[in-house]
Amino acid sequence: MYNFDNHVDRKSSDSIKWHKYSGQDIIPLWVADMDFQSPPSVIEALHQRVSHGVFGYAHPNPELYETLIYHLQSTYNWQIKSDWIVWLPGLVTGINAACRSSASNNEAIVTTTPIYPPFLTAPRYSGQQLVTTSMKLNRNQWQLDLDELRSCINNRTKLFLLSNPHNPTGRVFKKKELLDIAEICLKKNMLICSDEIHCDLILEPKCKHWPLASIDPEIADRTITLMAPSKTYNVAGLGCGFAVISNDRIRRRFKNAMNGIVPDVNAMGFAAAHAAYKHGADWLAALLKYLRKNRDLVFEAINNLPGLSMAQVQGTYLAWIDALALPHENPHRMFEKAGVGLGNGSDFGAPGFLRLNFGCKRSLLESALKRMEDAAGKDTKPETLLET
Ligand SMILES: Cc1ncc(COP(=O)(O)O)c(C=O)c1O
Repeated sequence: MYNFDNHVDRKSSDSIKWHKYSGQDIIPLWVADMDFQSPPSVIEALHQRVSHGVFGYAHPNPELYETLIYHLQSTYNWQIKSDWIVWLPGLVTGINAACRSSASNNEAIVTTTPIYPPFLTAPRYSGQQLVTTSMKLNRNQWQLDLDELRSCINNRTKLFLLSNPHNPTGRVFKKKELLDIAEICLKKNMLICSDEIHCDLILEPKCKHWPLASIDPEIADRTITLMAPSKTYNVAGLGCGFAVISNDRIRRRFKNAMNGIVPDVNAMGFAAAHAAYKHGADWLAALLKYLRKNRDLVFEAINNLPGLSMAQVQGTYLAWIDALALPHENPHRMFEKAGVGLGNGSDFGAPGFLRLNFGCKRSLLESALKRMEDAAGKDTKPETLLET
């Protein structure tokens, strides 16, 4: 019914992903948006909104609240109230507002590495100190090192920035892992900003997404949850997301941090979000099936290449590749030269790693993997020598 193999030309569109390598034979598998069209119901809702022809300031209608509350209840058994929702034109805005509203100048904010790059910049933009704790590969699964987390928190640490499912490793944290993290943070009177933008993209059937705030009311009382339809339904360019904050004081401070700087969500973003959450379930089930196969292809190909390895991706459409064993100083550049544009691990706080976005049609992914195979398989000389 839905054909994810359809070719959609993004080269001549306004795509950041495809524009980066415009005019070059480099397959772009970097920034996290997919090459697929959004669900037909979303496209139809946008057509209808355009036909109305008036594009004044928009506000979310009561039906959107109902749809969203029902979605969170039916998918995650998480009961929220409409008052707890703060609409956002993007989740990077939410990450920055969380930093600004949770800590004062020169207090500290902790996050993991590797991590989605804005987690590393937001504390600094907010005048706070960034502290990082590194994820560890344990029995082929990326995990937080709880002892290291404990040791990097002190009385000046006010906020933990969590990505779950985790970008870039693709880990979907178990309930017990989330409880352990929350226990450490709550003991130190910290807040947690839980960015769950990838929560509807669970690929591993054994895994389940737990909204952190749904686990326990005490945890909810210290949590700012960030969510959006943008990754799941490929509507990132329409700028619509939301925070859920049950604690009135924390919500007030979060909104104050946005005052006068953050614009309202636009009419198209609301229309797309409403249609996605209301009518997108069938499309999403088909998408997940397609992505699972892409994920398996990537896992198989990468782990068969000399110098590259990766753990299984449980959620997201992102593969986190360890290229430290490649005899090249700059694996990102090496693969660009071979015609594949990947995310550079340095941007995620992990030089020597690469992030591959497999949210694209399978034939394109296969071509990219073939190019990577040719580059990593046949060429084992250090790049510095190749360049001389
Ligand atoms: C964890 C995470 N948060 C936020 C974003 C971006 O959110 P937005 O485009 O809504 O600012 C991304 C995009 O990749 C992400 O992976």
